Amino acid sequence: MPEKENNIVWHAQSVARETREAKNRHKGCVLWYTGLSGSGKSTVANKTEELLSQRNAQTYLLDGDNIRFGLNSDLGFEKKDRRENIRRIGEVAKLFADSGTIVSVAFISPYRADRERARKIVEEAGLDFVEIFVKCDLAVCESRDPKGLYKKARAGEIRNFTGLDAPYEEPLDPELVLESGHSDPETLAKRVLDFLNRKHILL
Ligand code: ADX
Repeated sequence: MPEKENNIVWHAQSVARETREAKNRHKGCVLWYTGLSGSGKSTVANKTEELLSQRNAQTYLLDGDNIRFGLNSDLGFEKKDRRENIRRIGEVAKLFADSGTIVSVAFISPYRADRERARKIVEEAGLDFVEIFVKCDLAVCESRDPKGLYKKARAGEIRNFTGLDAPYEEPLDPELVLESGHSDPETLAKRVLDFLNRKHILL
């Protein structure tokens, strides 16, 4: 339990996490998808949610592009803004996972230290954090260019674009690596489900 600090005291809740998990027949956890823009994070995360939903799992998807319309609409793409983006989403993902939800997070999250901080937030709450590297060559992402943003970045209309003039730090030891240039989204989503079964997150 957090220590009493600034006159704020942690309040215990009557319905336990285990009660929610037993009802759902799965644990709450965070599936953290990281990778370049256009690598397929959202596509694979959506497909995985579909498969989970077929077995009546409680799921929710936090998608970088969408969250930046609301909760994180005050943030840009400078390093410190991306850090705050990931910190907030780490905290939000922890709450969802604690609620018993299998929460998918699809954010570029380009900095290793920021992802590690998110992992710490989640794991310190006793919840599983599954880092999923959606691996795809920059050239392939750029050729897909689903939002036309690489084209704009190349034309100098967007600065600090990940993979071009801003870094992407590949995960060193992710739980899963999904190569999106080599397999279709359904095959990759099934690999996520296999992992959840193996780790007894699906009960
Ligand atoms: S993160 O780096 O802070 O994790 P996030 O996942 O929230 O990024 O948002 C990435 C999305 O914002 C991209 O998929 C793209 O659509 C859009 N975007 C706009 N500007 C940039 C930029 N400079 N770099 C990367 N993505 C950008």
